[in-house]
Amino acid sequence: MQMLLKGKPVAEKIFADIKKDLTDWKKKAYRPPSLTVILVGDDPASQVYVGHKTKACHDLGFKSELIQLPQNISQDQLIQKITELNQNKSVDGILVQLPLPKAMNERIVLESIDAKKDVDCLTQTNIGAMVVGGSLVSPCTPSGIIEIFNYYKLPLQGKKIAVVGRSLIVGTPLVHLLTQQNATVTLFHSKSEDMMSEIKQFDIVCVAIGKAEYFKPQDFKKGAIVIDVGIHRKPNNTLVGDVAAGDANWLSAQSPVPGGVGPTTIAMLMKNTYAVAWQNRKISRENL
Ligand code: GUN
Repeated sequence: MQMLLKGKPVAEKIFADIKKDLTDWKKKAYRPPSLTVILVGDDPASQVYVGHKTKACHDLGFKSELIQLPQNISQDQLIQKITELNQNKSVDGILVQLPLPKAMNERIVLESIDAKKDVDCLTQTNIGAMVVGGSLVSPCTPSGIIEIFNYYKLPLQGKKIAVVGRSLIVGTPLVHLLTQQNATVTLFHSKSEDMMSEIKQFDIVCVAIGKAEYFKPQDFKKGAIVIDVGIHRKPNNTLVGDVAAGDANWLSAQSPVPGGVGPTTIAMLMKNTYAVAWQNRKISRENL
């Protein structure tokens, strides 16, 4: 019988740990941790994700602000806004929701975020610190995946794991985090030769290619554990992952879509927001 690797209980545990930390935080009378999210344009999926992030802040008693900017705002104006937030002592964390309009250079925009406020771990400084190990924040989706493995007691040490997709937000950092857990990691991407035959060798596969229903369960080894990072809305309005539904007993464990990686990503964002606020706590007290 296949095990469903649901994200909700994992996220609830992370939330409970943050709440425990917050009781001590409140005793010391710091102002609540605060997160500012910038959303450029009106992409419906991004609006939904940003709504989840704002709600999570509300549930924990964090201060949250959503700054919505029009699709046609210039890159310089966006950077100007980020610079103001960098200097604003009542803001602990800054998150720029991706994707940005095509006319913008995403890298230049992300680098304008003060690394001390980069709760997404997307600046060069923070990605570098994550690769070195022991960083204050880790990228939310990959670190949430590590939490899923830990919560369901699925050992990583010594395991041969395939990561499919090399995005800077999921696949690439996930390779590093899994390696730090002593896994042996192979990264497949769009230029990999013979991926479909090689992927069948792996007991654990993390799929993050951003293509709806690209794989079916039988594409993997029988009994494999599959983490599905994709989330796509079909024309009939249902949400699907990068892995299509199929023989439910082929895989030994699979993260569902929705309800798998999504909730843990949000929980890790909250954990990162608390971490940067804690680092910032002297300033928090001055700004009560
Ligand atoms: N768009 C989709 N996922 C994410 C994420 O984790 N962070 C940001 N900033 N944008 C996203």
